[in-house]
Amino acid sequence: MDVLRAISDRRSHRAYKADQLPEDVLCAILRAGLEAPSARNHQPWHYSVVQNPELIQAVHDEAAAVMGKGGSPRFADPDFQMFYHAPTVVFLFGEKEFDWTQVDCGIAVENMALAAEGLGIGSVILGLPKPAFKGEKADELRARLGCPEGYDFVIALALGYATDTKEAHDLREEKISRIR
Ligand SMILES: Cc1cc2nc3c(=O)[nH]c(=O)nc-3n(C[C@H](O)[C@H](O)[C@H](O)COP(=O)(O)O)c2cc1C
Repeated sequence: MDVLRAISDRRSHRAYKADQLPEDVLCAILRAGLEAPSARNHQPWHYSVVQNPELIQAVHDEAAAVMGKGGSPRFADPDFQMFYHAPTVVFLFGEKEFDWTQVDCGIAVENMALAAEGLGIGSVILGLPKPAFKGEKADELRARLGCPEGYDFVIALALGYATDTKEAHDLREEKISRIR
């Protein structure tokens, strides 16, 4: 039942306190990432845990620069930061030459988001940083973030004490077909 509760209560949070996560809580979230299932148990992921605001901002700045003005309407707001100033961001890098990398990293990031929810920590899954790893500074950023050779950015997870509240998203029952 605790799992169902965490699934139902999780939201994408977009405002955070500056307070850092306790180390044991962060370790439990990362362990949930390592415990994720993966195709052939290949574990094609690498988790870079960043608590350096300057580096997080550098990824934001580069992604924004690569996307340009048309990237997202949210960039029209000068205060917008794609990590929402969360004190911890986990970057999930995935092995490029493996068929199931995207699926496996997707499962892993949700494992971590649900673990965070269960531990009272807010999160948001982030695809928006991806352009930062396509532009001129891509190699420099991958190096600064400890991305292994042969891996590239898949997804990120911002973590912290959420200060916003949000309704659950709509449930689209028509997305289910039952064949008997
Ligand atoms: C693969 C993926 C990428 C996402 N990227 C972003 C993002 O870059 N920025 C953001 O604010 N939310 C992002 N989200 C969060 C979604 O917008 C959110 O899950 C959706 O609106 C449903 O809301 P909920 O998570 O609160 O249920 C992403 C979610 C997923 C699964």
